Amino acid sequence: MKVAVLGFGTVGFGVYEMLGKAKGLERGPVLVRPGKNDMPFKVTSIEKIVSDPSVGAVAEVMGGVEPAYSYAAAALSAGKHFVTSNKALVAARGPELDTIAREKGVAFLFSAACGGGVPFLHNLALARESDEIRSMGGILNGTTNYMLDAMQRLHLDYGDVLADAQRLGYAEADPTADVSGLDALRKIMLACAVAYGTLPTDGLLHEGIESVTAADVAHFQSRGYTCRLVAGGGRAEDGVYAYVEPVLLRDGAPECSVLQNYNMARYEGANAGPIVLMGQGAGRWPTASAVLRDLSGILRGEREMFPEGLRRGEVDNSLCRHSYYVRLPAELAGELPAASAELDGDTVRMITEPLPVSQMHFEAKRLRARGASVFFAAVRE
Ligand SMILES: NC(=O)c1ccc[n+]([C@@H]2O[C@H](COP(=O)([O-])OP(=O)(O)OC[C@H]3O[C@@H](n4cnc5c(N)ncnc54)[C@H](OP(=O)(O)O)[C@@H]3O)[C@@H](O)[C@H]2O)c1
Repeated sequence: MKVAVLGFGTVGFGVYEMLGKAKGLERGPVLVRPGKNDMPFKVTSIEKIVSDPSVGAVAEVMGGVEPAYSYAAAALSAGKHFVTSNKALVAARGPELDTIAREKGVAFLFSAACGGGVPFLHNLALARESDEIRSMGGILNGTTNYMLDAMQRLHLDYGDVLADAQRLGYAEADPTADVSGLDALRKIMLACAVAYGTLPTDGLLHEGIESVTAADVAHFQSRGYTCRLVAGGGRAEDGVYAYVEPVLLRDGAPECSVLQNYNMARYEGANAGPIVLMGQGAGRWPTASAVLRDLSGILRGEREMFPEGLRRGEVDNSLCRHSYYVRLPAELAGELPAASAELDGDTVRMITEPLPVSQMHFEAKRLRARGASVFFAAVRE
């Protein structure tokens, strides 16, 4: 099967290289921007690709929602299989692409979009065939894991580890999507899509790591906790729950062994119990290997990651309850139900009574709107 590649950046170059050695797959044209077609295999028009009958599949590794969506729709409509590493595209337009792929009887696969080289969605799609997926999630963003790990092990402050992550290429010049938890949220949205055929849209919550300080880390480290940014998803009564928030884990929990920019994805099957997958969640070769895994799957007959179709659905984050570690100004201590609290100058550090996830995220927003500096993390004993 001849594969056209859209985009020739970090992942695109990797996919093109790997196609040169892959069994049953061959290199097709590569879409680049006008002016960048410096080799015969590079083209600058999507029409050249969709109208080429020798192209059997298109791998989109450009990023962004547009023009990626229009190109994907054109490729699928022309009867080409479509594979992508682009989580923003699938989170925004997954149901539309699924519909076109079904109408045309071609594949729409995106396991590289969540977990990079970690075969998370691929295994989730297999598991849902024979088991009921109770919950899933884990550490799905390598940038923030690198930062939290460095803050904890090297005792660095937030600004220093962010600069470090940018210097090493782990964080982008604009790191907002990573540090705000949005990147991990998009990934848990895709996991819900695969596990339940529901792409959660309204009511999603994401708290990132932008508020954590070296003093916070020293405080919970001295009490035997490690902080990780964790995504959670599962089935709720009337839909699904899906959120991202920092979590404090007891030293020795599996998440604590995830160091540097590694990812750890997990799911729990009603029969299989907990399954954990760990590996590189990003990078040229790990991500390209996931794209190639999908392309090889097409040769074996794989067509979609949700056999019953994909619909948009609401999120109910009120059913999950956690106790939270919260650091906030002392004068606001009475705003939350505290199980215990320690005064530290003009700051209070408390453990709350168990609260619904939706309520904790709402309270933090409310207090920040009043100008308060607040950090919170769920406590998992
Ligand atoms: N890098 C990773 O580790 C990783 C991991 C998992 C998933 N992903 C996903 O994979 C996708 C690609 O990531 P990347 O890191 O490879 O990004 P990248 O290095 O920025 O590469 C994207 C490439 O696509 C090109 N491109 C963008 N729009 C185009 C257009 N309209 N026409 C032709 N070419 C276009 C860009 O060209 P210009 O440079 O000219 O703009 C660039 O060469 C993203 O969706 C990302 O979220 C990446």
